[in-house]
Amino acid sequence: MTNSNTSIHHRSPQQPIGVFDSGIGGLSVLRDIRRELPHEHLLYVADSGHAPYGDKSSAFIAARSVAVTEFLLNQNVKAIVIACNTATGAAARLLRQRYSVPIIGLEPAIKPALTCTRSGVIGVMATQQTLASAKFAALLTECARQPVRIVPQACPGLVERIEAGDLNGAATRTLVAKLLAPLRDAGADTLVLGCTHYPHLRPLIAELAGSNVTILDSGAAVARQVRRRLMEIALLAPSSQCGQEWFWTSGELAQTQKLLAQLWNNQAQLTRIHLP
Ligand code: DGL
Repeated sequence: MTNSNTSIHHRSPQQPIGVFDSGIGGLSVLRDIRRELPHEHLLYVADSGHAPYGDKSSAFIAARSVAVTEFLLNQNVKAIVIACNTATGAAARLLRQRYSVPIIGLEPAIKPALTCTRSGVIGVMATQQTLASAKFAALLTECARQPVRIVPQACPGLVERIEAGDLNGAATRTLVAKLLAPLRDAGADTLVLGCTHYPHLRPLIAELAGSNVTILDSGAAVARQVRRRLMEIALLAPSSQCGQEWFWTSGELAQTQKLLAQLWNNQAQLTRIHLP
């Protein structure tokens, strides 16, 4: 147990929500949370000094998730959103056991994809760790009765392209085309973006996949889930509050600042932190 485990009695609606990812991927989720909850203060940690998570061991990812969660709890957050499929798979359970604040994770949008597909083939792009997780296996089992084929596609190297800020350059285009080819050959008409980095590539993926392919991610559903959870415990920010954002990175300040300007806005307040 940790002593940063804030007691429920001391939480107030004015407190911020903590959001984290291995890097800037979770900004795609932050965007949806901001749209859904304009009055909330949002703290975002990009653990860029340790990205990517997707090819690391689950023990490593769990330890990173604990370190970031401790940091956010010290910033007095009222809830934490794991804006990362990989960290949700490796650490959501552990974080929920250890801390009393609501911990909201996400999962690849396979369930919504079931009602979308006409060809009956759904492609799931995600990290190696997400696809290897017990959580993903359980999700597949839940969907096993449906008359669909789910084709997983690990995407090694893709997060690195996005962290480099290359959303449409030659190297990223070549890699995305290569990753989409087996999904197209399998007849997938629905693509699930099972990593929060990939929505940053949505225009490119849409262009290369073609107009008859539907692309889904989990951002909006998670944002609605955050609203529901906060409402249940009467911790939604008052409508008089004007939501602001603060950003931290454990990586290089200049590179994260550049990415924030590209993917969020150039007024973002960014601080470098050292996380153990
Ligand atoms: N954005 C993360 C996810 O949703 C992690 C990607 C990575 O660091 O490999 O899976």
